[in-house]
Amino acid sequence: MHNTVKVSDKIYWLGANDRRTHLFENLWPIPNGISYNSYLIIDEKIALVDTLHFSTADDYLDKIEELIGKDRSIDYLIINHMEPDHSGAIKAVTEKYPNIKIIGNLKTFKILESYYGYQDKWKQVEDGEEISLGYHKLKFVMTPWVHWPETMMTYDVTDKILFSGDAFGSFGTLDGGIFDDEIEFDDYYLEDMRRYYSNIVGQYSNMVQKAFAKLKGVEIKMICSTHGPIWRTDVNKVISLYDKWSKYETEKGVVIIYGSMYGNTAKMADYIARKLSENGIKKIRVYDASKTHISYLINEIWRYKGVVLGSSAYNSGMLPTMENLTRTLEHMGVKDHLLGLFGSYSWNGGGVKALHKFYETIQWDLVSEPIDSKGIPGDETFKRCEILANAIAEKLK
Ligand code: FEO
Repeated sequence: MHNTVKVSDKIYWLGANDRRTHLFENLWPIPNGISYNSYLIIDEKIALVDTLHFSTADDYLDKIEELIGKDRSIDYLIINHMEPDHSGAIKAVTEKYPNIKIIGNLKTFKILESYYGYQDKWKQVEDGEEISLGYHKLKFVMTPWVHWPETMMTYDVTDKILFSGDAFGSFGTLDGGIFDDEIEFDDYYLEDMRRYYSNIVGQYSNMVQKAFAKLKGVEIKMICSTHGPIWRTDVNKVISLYDKWSKYETEKGVVIIYGSMYGNTAKMADYIARKLSENGIKKIRVYDASKTHISYLINEIWRYKGVVLGSSAYNSGMLPTMENLTRTLEHMGVKDHLLGLFGSYSWNGGGVKALHKFYETIQWDLVSEPIDSKGIPGDETFKRCEILANAIAEKLK
């Protein structure tokens, strides 16, 4: 007996939990693991929606066989997304079910070919095209760049279920509870979902908004993503979270992130944080970029309106951890923040100058003159830190 869960009368979740991997995509720490979700629709025709990461697929074919029996084959494999955490079991599935027809769009097949060689049994679908499985009718919605070029969604017109690919996904394994009404979402998933969104999908926020525009007016009773819980009770909750994050809507708070070699820039960070607190700001987080993984820093930047960045000088530029953060933010094109800049140096400087160049590119709202302090910060430096804190607090009010 395998661990499969009925999603609706003819639809099953065949997902798997990954608690072994330390870095998702070999980049992002996942201390709470991740789930890879695949779905099987057993109708007059049978369709499999996305597969799994190969490392979690050892009993995948057994699960399918247990549900459909030894004598039936799968008619369609629908590929909403080709990234290997979902396409990893394609080879195994097509070998076991050689007559399966693969459904995707033109871009899907270009990637499929480059990963798994030419597959001759495929059906290219266009935006809005429908197929019938018997009782279930499926409609394909092209949502490119959420977050790869080929990404699409499959909408079950019959049960009003959206198979959304990575969209509405989250880090975090499914520990018994599969559906949103079976879990404590805010306690266990919210942070992981925002960190997933901001780091994996956030760069393509404008494409997420385009996908929302396309889905406007479509009745959605359930969202089945490729990662994290299935939404069936409070679908609007996950929709509004993704909508808010992709519009860069933030909370009234401040995240201070610094790189400090000998503690002087760190002292300025703590002083700014205290002055923010004296201004009545309660949501204040302070991080050392050399210690905290960048994915958590980006998560906090996605959360708070105020961003204060500090760096000591290092070889006439920023400390490399801060350079990595600012370069990543530029690359992602993150929008709509209040910005404060500070730092310190021992001889020639360069850290704050480099931070200012970041500001010129990112064009956030710089609240005060950048503070570049020589040596150990003194009264004048702390006075300027207070001015920065007051300015950002004022704008937040
Ligand atoms: Fe979960 Fe973009 O793969």
